[in-house]
Amino acid sequence: MNNCTNRRYCGTLREENIGEKVTVYGWVGRNRNLGSLIFTDLRDRTGIVQCVFDEAVDAALALRAEEMRMEWVVAIEGTVRMRSSINPNIPTGKIEILAENLTVFTKAETPPFEVNDNINTNEMLRLKYRYLDLRRPSLQRIMEIRHKAAQVTRNYFTEQGFWEIETPMLTKSTPEGARDYLVPSRVHPGAFYALPQSPQQYKQMLMLSGVDRYMQIARCFRDEDLRADRQPEFTQIDLEMSFVDMEDIMAIQEGFIKKIFKELRGVDVETPILRLTYAEAMSRFGSDKPDMRFGFELRDISDLVKDSGFTPFVSAIENGGSVHAINFNEVGGKMSRKEIDSLGEYVKTYRAKGLAWAKVTKDGVTSSFAKNMPADVMTAIYERMNIQEGDLLAIIAHEDTETAQTALGALRCEVARRQNLISTDDFKFLWVTDFPLFEKGEDDDGNERFYAKHHPFTSPRDEDIPLFETAPEKMMAKAYDIVCNGYEMGGGSIRIHDPEVQQKMFNCLGFTTEDTLARFGHMIDAFKFGAPPHGGIAYGFDRIVMLLAGTEDIRDSIAFPKIQTASEVMTSCPSEVEEKQLRELCIKVDLPVKEEKAE
Ligand code: AMO
Repeated sequence: MNNCTNRRYCGTLREENIGEKVTVYGWVGRNRNLGSLIFTDLRDRTGIVQCVFDEAVDAALALRAEEMRMEWVVAIEGTVRMRSSINPNIPTGKIEILAENLTVFTKAETPPFEVNDNINTNEMLRLKYRYLDLRRPSLQRIMEIRHKAAQVTRNYFTEQGFWEIETPMLTKSTPEGARDYLVPSRVHPGAFYALPQSPQQYKQMLMLSGVDRYMQIARCFRDEDLRADRQPEFTQIDLEMSFVDMEDIMAIQEGFIKKIFKELRGVDVETPILRLTYAEAMSRFGSDKPDMRFGFELRDISDLVKDSGFTPFVSAIENGGSVHAINFNEVGGKMSRKEIDSLGEYVKTYRAKGLAWAKVTKDGVTSSFAKNMPADVMTAIYERMNIQEGDLLAIIAHEDTETAQTALGALRCEVARRQNLISTDDFKFLWVTDFPLFEKGEDDDGNERFYAKHHPFTSPRDEDIPLFETAPEKMMAKAYDIVCNGYEMGGGSIRIHDPEVQQKMFNCLGFTTEDTLARFGHMIDAFKFGAPPHGGIAYGFDRIVMLLAGTEDIRDSIAFPKIQTASEVMTSCPSEVEEKQLRELCIKVDLPVKEEKAE
């Protein structure tokens, strides 16, 4: 390319470059014709610089410059000079380039939206033209953060003795967890690979192979319902270590978190990072990933209300549940009746039956339930919840304690959000530990069974091993999650390395010996030949980038993300394939019959 030696990036030019002859390459932003002067904003990934074409200097050049339109790709050669009217809003705002030469590489049609951070373009349109969207400075910044975050990750773990090893993308389907994305095999008609939900089994195999410390920035695929922090195709920073216990793993991770948040965000993360047990996180914050940037802790008030005679509370407790409360202080006290009613609707989306509330003012109490309660019980509640004049008390009762806690935990975050109590510059980390090993759920036939809360390779606490036969629901796992600002940033565990314990785990999950062999025979075999004690963790890399970039949508942290329906709108995938391709794979598509709409 001509003049490449003079190439400067648009956003890097400053006063100290004044007098230099430079060439800038990029996309045309605004092009304004002010009579004898044409002002062109040129943009590349570093930012924008103003270029001026002066009719008095070169009339023919100015005429060509006038023709330029948005998103044309050009090179402008010229001399950097002081600007007469300074633009304090951009880093290059003190200078401009007096153009002496113009090369047009490509012209562009009028784009469907202006490439600019200050516009409110519909997201679907932005995703359809993602290459235009990615030209916006805010997204370019996030892509740079993502790149740097990957470099910091690789450097840190290399320094700690980890080897980066890739694991397969075409793997065996071992249902347990989310639904698999399947890939049909042409060579083995009727057989399928699964795209990995995570490299879990492979990284354990690498420990059995003697690798000792493994890391990978790994692509993972899960066919599950999407959310603002969930994509069907996402990236993990995946790690595994041999001959370690939980403390060793957590110490290495704290070093990593400190480093990445310092280098990319300038934040000093205090270590050791706070720890809460799962039970404490649920009872105090109503979540296993609590946002610690604000208070409003939950308290159990079941003991105070169990004999109150107030049916919604009493029956919840009698049916095995409990009653929990939050003091929303004066923040809540300022909320109108209408706002409080809308919170009542909000908690219903979390399966709460309703919200009992009381607002204490100097003129007395306004409440949805106080009139049905004995006065001394109300006084006891106020005392426990430290209710002062001007405060709002919120209560949820449910026959399932976790439902009551979760609904109140969600309300806690919603009130903080609505009242603008959350700062995106604040980072609050915590470890959540002591998870139950199992959770109960229904299988496809509606029968209740145990599921592994983390995954089937997670080790129980040593002292709980005898409970496999007697009380699996009481068993605790050697598992830990790292949480930041209400997001589960990562999770891991110490793994089972004793084949007998692994077999007990599979038995508890309801797998027959044949099931186990068919699904996990390779693991069972491998563990017969010498397995070191090992454990690890995986971070959601996209979530880390999201936190570092200060965005709340995981899509912003991924170059080509998928939308709610798991489609990618730019290329329109998934899409139908040719009949010939299906024939080669011996696949016949049998679509469900569309239901006729009732008249
Ligand atoms: P887990 O399933 O908890 O553990 O995943 C680890 C981390 O990956 C991120 N994550 C996701 N990010 C975006 N979209 C998704 N759909 C998604 N699902 C998970 C989260 C989560 O904390 N193999 C184990 C790890 C281990 O035990 O070492 C695993 O995959 O940030």
